[in-house]
Amino acid sequence: MKLLLKNGRILDPSQDLDIVGSVTIVDDQIDEVGEKVDERDADEIYDCTGMWITPGLVDLHVHLREPGFSHKETIISGTQSAAAGGYTVICCMPNTDPPLDDPALIDFILDRSASPEAGGVFVAPIGALTKGMKGEQPSNLASLKRAQIVAASDDAYPIQDAQVMMRCMELCRQLDLPVAVHCEEESLTRGASMNEGAMSAMLGLKGMPRTAEEIQVARNCMLSLETGCPLHVLHVSTWGSVEIIKQAKFLGAPVTAEVCPHHFSMTDEDMVPFDTNWKMNPPLRTQVDVDILLGALADGTIDCISTDHAPHAAYEKDRPFDEAPFGIVGLESAVGVALTYLTHKGILSPLETIRRMSTRPAEVYRLDAGTLKKGRTPVAQVTVIDPDVEWTFDVSRTFSKGKNSLYHGMKLKGKAMLTFSGGEVYRDALWAANDRVAV
Ligand code: DOR
Ligand code: ZN
Repeated sequence: MKLLLKNGRILDPSQDLDIVGSVTIVDDQIDEVGEKVDERDADEIYDCTGMWITPGLVDLHVHLREPGFSHKETIISGTQSAAAGGYTVICCMPNTDPPLDDPALIDFILDRSASPEAGGVFVAPIGALTKGMKGEQPSNLASLKRAQIVAASDDAYPIQDAQVMMRCMELCRQLDLPVAVHCEEESLTRGASMNEGAMSAMLGLKGMPRTAEEIQVARNCMLSLETGCPLHVLHVSTWGSVEIIKQAKFLGAPVTAEVCPHHFSMTDEDMVPFDTNWKMNPPLRTQVDVDILLGALADGTIDCISTDHAPHAAYEKDRPFDEAPFGIVGLESAVGVALTYLTHKGILSPLETIRRMSTRPAEVYRLDAGTLKKGRTPVAQVTVIDPDVEWTFDVSRTFSKGKNSLYHGMKLKGKAMLTFSGGEVYRDALWAANDRVAV
């Protein structure tokens, strides 16, 4: 079986490649990438004129909710949502019920995600850093690593005790396992539901001060420097965190960082008051934070873009603002938001945009992904993106079970059109409507 993706703008950050050309996939593997390829005997031809052809996108921060919360999302609905968003690899967070602190649960996730319904999307599990994510005892990290976790984290339940954190990081350093951290000093955020500032004061809601995040970013970066443990800072949202991460990198700490689309595109002033689709943790901050986050993406202080895809059921979000759960879905809007707010505004070039959404995240968790180089991924992982299509994000038409998105009804420019993972191909409805597939 031979697929030909013809005449696209090939963007492969892993080889600094930005050319117009074609890609062939033979028997589920990348065969040729170049200005001229052997086009003979293709079984399927995709005309990619005006499109980008990129390595499959990689998301380091996704909540799949299984086991325990399958009313919010399942491994299957989550992987389908990922494929529709252009992702071929997603890393799932351990805040399930029970939490992912047992190798049997990692086996379960890998089994489920290998099912044909998962559309070929690879799921790379992140194990719980502490037993039960209670922040007291490290979990059995060696056996979790053998079960193939790619990182360890207590995301959503940040470890408050520095001594526990240090022990966990010493262990992970020995196991060469990255630790991913949601940074939040909880004594400063209890009962809070949005950013602390003029908006929270006006709405009469308790706010989270930016320092609650920054205190833990600083602590964790210093522990990374001290222990040598690779540290990945999740969803950076404040300018202070950026400055601390920059300094930690300068000092030689093995620190990487991510930002979510909502944190670089929206502020607390954009919020629809009391609409819980605008409630997430960390919360939307201010324009100064957004400006510094954009600069940090451009200069590489922030390594990658992750979604923090956090689906919740409608009845759970349909509560008073301060009682509703934190989180918004993100897999199917990320490409549109990134292109609209980064690429089309000149913050990141097309090649750098793809680097932050594919190649760099793959490097951070050392995944066999994020490249179009022949033989470097278990199967061919390729995404075709229309950078110029203007469309309105309609959350009711997404694959995720979660419909909690602040982007519903917003106009975006740029969309994933085709996602190839091995023999599986996801075709966007817009692609089908334009009849671009020639068989
Ligand atoms: O917005 C968030 N949603 N932040 C978190 O820390 C947890 C996550 C979730 O699991 O829903
Ligand atoms: Zn998260």
